[in-house]
Amino acid sequence: MTEPLPAFPPGFTWGVSTASYQIEGAVSEDGRGTSVWDTFSHTPGKVRDGDTGDVACDHYHRYPEDVALMADLGVGAYRFSVAWPRIQPTGEGPANAAGLDFYDRLVDSLLASDIDPLVTLFHWDLPQPLEDAGGWLNRDTSARFGEYADLVAQRLGDRVKLWITLNEPVIVTSLGYVLGIHAPGRTGVPNAFPVLHHQLLGHGLAAAAIRRHSTAGVSLANNYTPAWAVGPDGRPETATDEDRAAAELYDLYHNRMFTDPLLHGAYPSGYELLSTVDVDSLVLDGDLEVISAPLDGLGVNYYNPTAIRAAKAGDDLPFAMVDLAGYERTGFGWPVVPDGLRETLVRLLHERYPEVLPPLWITENGCAYPRSTDDADRVSYLDGHLRAVRGAIDAGVDVRGYCVWSLLDNFEWAEGYSQRFGLVDVDFETQRRTPRASYRWYRDLIRGA
Ligand code: FCB
Repeated sequence: MTEPLPAFPPGFTWGVSTASYQIEGAVSEDGRGTSVWDTFSHTPGKVRDGDTGDVACDHYHRYPEDVALMADLGVGAYRFSVAWPRIQPTGEGPANAAGLDFYDRLVDSLLASDIDPLVTLFHWDLPQPLEDAGGWLNRDTSARFGEYADLVAQRLGDRVKLWITLNEPVIVTSLGYVLGIHAPGRTGVPNAFPVLHHQLLGHGLAAAAIRRHSTAGVSLANNYTPAWAVGPDGRPETATDEDRAAAELYDLYHNRMFTDPLLHGAYPSGYELLSTVDVDSLVLDGDLEVISAPLDGLGVNYYNPTAIRAAKAGDDLPFAMVDLAGYERTGFGWPVVPDGLRETLVRLLHERYPEVLPPLWITENGCAYPRSTDDADRVSYLDGHLRAVRGAIDAGVDVRGYCVWSLLDNFEWAEGYSQRFGLVDVDFETQRRTPRASYRWYRDLIRGA
């Protein structure tokens, strides 16, 4: 790195992120119920190499070691998620005390190390019995989510710093219920609108439940991506007007559908184009008021821009996702475009939602590279993206914190253990944790901040 990173505003929070199913393991312990990811990962052919989260990083047992790693790293915040099936094994009814006890111990050990808990309530591990009743296609799931949030907030509400109700509802919608690449593996474009609306309604009900027990801030973490129109060679310069119209539609679906209702209390006009269902029968009176109750923060998960072309005759979707040409790629094959994060913060959020945008938190940003490298690529990725965040702050965007995805190598959903996002390497045979060069780089950065 040539130039040192410019200083961040005083009080800026440095953190790391994880999620329950990706790290905890201990899937049958202390009364935990089955989640859709247990079912999906145990279905042959769904996850690369047949990997499952049965053991993962064994964080359920090894959390003291992981908290010690974070304390040594010097982070001020840890974003983790609560596994709904540990709290309500069937997705409804009274709390399973042993499940709450685990998170209670985790929160206390974080606070003992001066690390603030940022708690996500739903990072994709829906209790299987709720999925059997329709999952997020079923409006009842929203109500169940509100009840679950109430139980967690009652127990942890006095110690959590920031609540994040949902993680990336767009990915649950697209990969989980339209394309079938993630759990629960359902397919069909008509699923999109009910699944997204019921998640947002669940967010609103959870937010209200949290506020009954906790004065901590409430937020939601969305996946954001600039939609770049490209031509046949994958480059923006060769895009046609049709490609640009398709990219606009993609932006409407991926970014605005999950933000306008929260901040403007309405779905964006034009969204009917994406919906093949009777929207009026799904959006009931009062839903949008519940969804748009004021937020204290908005979580931004950013990885890369998305290259979009016009759909071809016969395509199911009104846009086509293609490879973006002209950029380096991570080990996962994702293009490395730090400026896309600045564009996300400035153009997609700050300029689009004047007056109503709450403070932003980068709740996820990071990259996967193979184990064999010296980790210089990860350092360069993080350095570039932090410069982009700094640029957005200079442009007037209120960004309060940044969490690296991820503290540990972990179960990367449909990719199993093949993609390593950790600042800390995990040997999944021995569970040995070994900090990488990027961990030391981040520690130095935090110390100097
Ligand atoms: C995000 C997920 C997170 C992780 C990263 C790489 O979409 O929220 O769990 O898998 O991607």
